[in-house]
Amino acid sequence: MTTSSWHPASWRDMPIRQVPEYPDQTRLRAMEEKLGRFPPLVFAGECDRLTNLLAEAGEGRAFVLQGGDCAESFSDFNANNIRDTFRVLLQMAVVLTFGGGLPVVKLGRMAGQFAKPRSSDTETQGGETLPSYRGDIINGSEFTPEARIPDPQRMEFAYLQSAATLNLLRAFATGGFADLHEVHRWNLGFVARSPLADRYADIAQRIDETLRFMAACGMNSLTAPQIRETEFYTSHEALLLPFEEALTREPMTHPRRHYACSAHFLWIGDRTRQPDGAHVEFLSGVANPIGLKVGPTTEVEDLLRLADRLNPNNKAGRLTLIARMGAAKLEQKLPTLIRAIQREGRKVTWLTDPMHGNTHSAGGYKTRSFDAILQEVRGFFEIHDAEGTFPGGVHVEMTGRDVTECLGGAHCLTEADLSANYATFCDPRLNAEQSLELAFLVAEGLKSRRGASIQLQAAQ
Ligand code: PEP
Ligand code: CO
Repeated sequence: MTTSSWHPASWRDMPIRQVPEYPDQTRLRAMEEKLGRFPPLVFAGECDRLTNLLAEAGEGRAFVLQGGDCAESFSDFNANNIRDTFRVLLQMAVVLTFGGGLPVVKLGRMAGQFAKPRSSDTETQGGETLPSYRGDIINGSEFTPEARIPDPQRMEFAYLQSAATLNLLRAFATGGFADLHEVHRWNLGFVARSPLADRYADIAQRIDETLRFMAACGMNSLTAPQIRETEFYTSHEALLLPFEEALTREPMTHPRRHYACSAHFLWIGDRTRQPDGAHVEFLSGVANPIGLKVGPTTEVEDLLRLADRLNPNNKAGRLTLIARMGAAKLEQKLPTLIRAIQREGRKVTWLTDPMHGNTHSAGGYKTRSFDAILQEVRGFFEIHDAEGTFPGGVHVEMTGRDVTECLGGAHCLTEADLSANYATFCDPRLNAEQSLELAFLVAEGLKSRRGASIQLQAAQ
């Protein structure tokens, strides 16, 4: 529960995991003070609006698409990468909007997704053991002792990169790049190239007809801003608490409320969700909408305690539970948790993260199979259908680039293909084609559920 003892630094009195030991505490403190003077990256009113949208998704009136890199990096920072990821997210969102007949809330793992929790504190290569790479905001990925030393200076560049990324995203969202007609044209290009073109053609053609019909009715980019512009929100794992605390603000417009102003939405990872731990303490007191990763080791009691701690007022849209069980464990784990949440009357929005429970090694690479990812998404929908609850959205690691990191998909990527363009700084991502394919397949599912609920209503 958020007690009156909460303040932006109260996490410092709690046990903490996954946060690095900075060798130079004086430099760390100087950087925290500097960041504390920098402007916030987001405005509290935007966070509140996102809370309302997430509440809609929790009740089946909207659908969330959260996606982006596993880890953003300093070296891959350029306009093309930002543009391509944003473009694929928009393309996916159009397909999902059409499939579900629902507004899609677009949430990037972008403009701040830099800090990574690691399963092991060290990494060994050729007999040498060094501290693990923890994301560009903390240390360097090069396998040298110097690169692996946590350096507070990295926080400043991460802030500046986030600000520049967010600036471009805001420009794209409202400046014409996100125009529905343009996004649809990109999707037609994707369908034409896909080996499964026949299968996807139906949805694409129907979107085409809808846009023509709307244009005939006088709704076009000039007359309807909804066609020309979109809303886009940012998110990342709130792992590096000194950074998050330094960017926490009590806005004049929202007195007595603290917002973590590094992004609109922050989540707690599966490794840092201890109910009495520092990460839970920090996020319990900020007013942003927040997420909690829910993995296969989450017990019912823990989940209910966390829901109490993180959302004591049971406000809709405040807490999003991101289930990442793995396709094989989903059926055994998720229904029990959903039932407990229902039984206790907890208001949450459920998302599926079909990535983090489906990672394996192949030929020296960390990879994921498209089939397992799709299976987890399908299972998530089926379980919610059976429980009478709402599948609120999907959370994916993806990129707009043509990488070879996940196996399968219509182009049948094999283990032998992984080395061709394996570019991730952490976990394997869906490439542009695989991401769009997932969106088309999920849209088919959404469409048939919509048919089922219409039938149900008619029968009543
Ligand atoms: C992630 O989202 O990149 C991540 C580390 O996830 P999880 O905490 O679910 O393992
Ligand atoms: Co990841």
